[in-house]
Order: sequence, then structure tokens, then C-alpha cells
Amino acid sequence: MNALVLDRVCKSRGSGAQRVAALRDVSLRIRRGELVMLEGPSGSGKTTLLAVAGSLLTADSGSVELGGESLCGRSSSERRRLRASCVGFVFQHANLLTSLSVRQNLLLRSQLAGVGRAEAARSADELLERLGIEKLADRFPAALSGGEEMRAAVARALVHRPILVLADEPSASLDGDSALSIADALSRIARERNAAVLVATHDARLTPYSDRRAGLLDGRLRNGGGNV
Ligand SMILES: Nc1ncnc2c1ncn2[C@@H]1O[C@H](COP(=O)(O)OP(=O)(O)OP(=O)(O)O)[C@@H](O)[C@H]1O
Ligand SMILES: [Mg+2]
Repeated sequence: MNALVLDRVCKSRGSGAQRVAALRDVSLRIRRGELVMLEGPSGSGKTTLLAVAGSLLTADSGSVELGGESLCGRSSSERRRLRASCVGFVFQHANLLTSLSVRQNLLLRSQLAGVGRAEAARSADELLERLGIEKLADRFPAALSGGEEMRAAVARALVHRPILVLADEPSASLDGDSALSIADALSRIARERNAAVLVATHDARLTPYSDRRAGLLDGRLRNGGGNV
């Protein structure tokens, strides 16, 4: 089953003289359990594509389907609900909520997705253990290393069992070993949980973890769009 379908999506960023066609006729399909690397130079539209895929931005034209549900014509509250339940995000800088412990960050994410308390706790404990940070569950983000914080961010992106995980340059602030072990954990756990993963990256070290590579240049997908 397709977790994500983009069909001839166009998206401009900025306004007036600053307006840029950030995505031009982008068509991309990702199945559940599949991990796609999105590659391309700075400014090619990777972050914009992730934002449209995750319904943080609305496409100007073309269509977007998440888990078989079309985003076209949805109200912002419907899009928020779909995003909360179907999508998990991993940002370049982990972006955990600093006033909550690691475990509380995970539980809140499940709560936003409408997951019941018992299942949320089970899922959080399983992921904290899988990512090797169970002993850090009650720490606040400020007391974590960069690598530990990214592990917690990966756990948060998966905890509510999303259909689609979107990761924007997840290895950018990590050294070699940390970057690889996080890519390994993300790809394994996402496959086990049958989530599709789209990773925007410049980092060639992550390539072995992908099923497919998609290349963006000046807002156009050059290759790897899937069976469109
Ligand atoms: N908020 C914005 N306002 C105006 N233009 C923007 C905005 N965000 C992005 N852009 C432009 O849209 C284009 C695509 O940007 P985007 O951030 O998607 O690229 P990227 O591939 O993620 O780059 P990087 O690798 O540097 O993160 C660029 O030309 C950028 O300058
Ligand atoms: Mg970017």
C-alpha cells in the first residue's frame, strides 16, 4: 500500500519578486515499509517537499495522498488531525520539548495522535529500549548529548505508529558512528512498524539504508519517483 502519493505537485515559496518555484511537477510514491532517500543540492526543494508531504504546507497544484486519504480540499483542522495521526517528523536539531522529559515527549506525541494511555506507554517503553536510551527516559533534553537527543527524536517520530516518517537532514549534526547507528535504528524500526520513511539528506553515508534514492534539482524530481 502507498503511504504517500504526490502527483504533479507544484509549490512556490516567498512572495512578490522573491517568489521561487520550489517544487515543479513533482510525482513521488512511497510504499509502507519502504525507505527513500531524497537527495539534492541546497535550495533544490527537499525541505519544501517534506513539508508538503507531511501537510505542513499546502501544494499550489497537484495532489497529495497520505495513507490513501487525499489532502485536497481539507480544512486546516482536518489536515492537523491527519498529520498528528499519520506522520512522524525528525528534524535536523531534535526539537524535543525542553520542559518535558524524554518519556513525556513520547507520551505527549501519542496523546496528540489519539493513542490510549496504556498503548502509548507500551510503545514508548519499547522504543526507548530499542534505541538504547531507556536509562535516559526521565532526563530532560538539556541533559542529553546530541546523539542521545536524536535517538529520542527518532523514538518520538515512531511512537504513535505513523504511516509516514519524514526526516530532514537527521545526521547533519552528528559524528560518523552516531549518524550511522541512528540511520540503522530508524530504518529497522520503521520497517518493523510498516512505516514509509522519506529522508532528506546530503549524507552519502546513509545511502546503504535506503531502498531507493530520489534526486531533486531546481524543484524537479530527476529520478526515483517510484511507480507513478
Ligand atoms: N520561507 C521561504 N520564503 C521564501 N523562499 C523560500 C522559503 N523557504 C524556502 N525558500 C526557497 O525555496 C527553495 C527551496 O528551499 P528548500 O528549503 O526546500 O531547499 P532544500 O533543498 O531543503 O535546501 P537545504 O539543503 O539548504 O536545506 C529555495 O530556493 C529557497 O530559497
Ligand atoms: Mg532543507
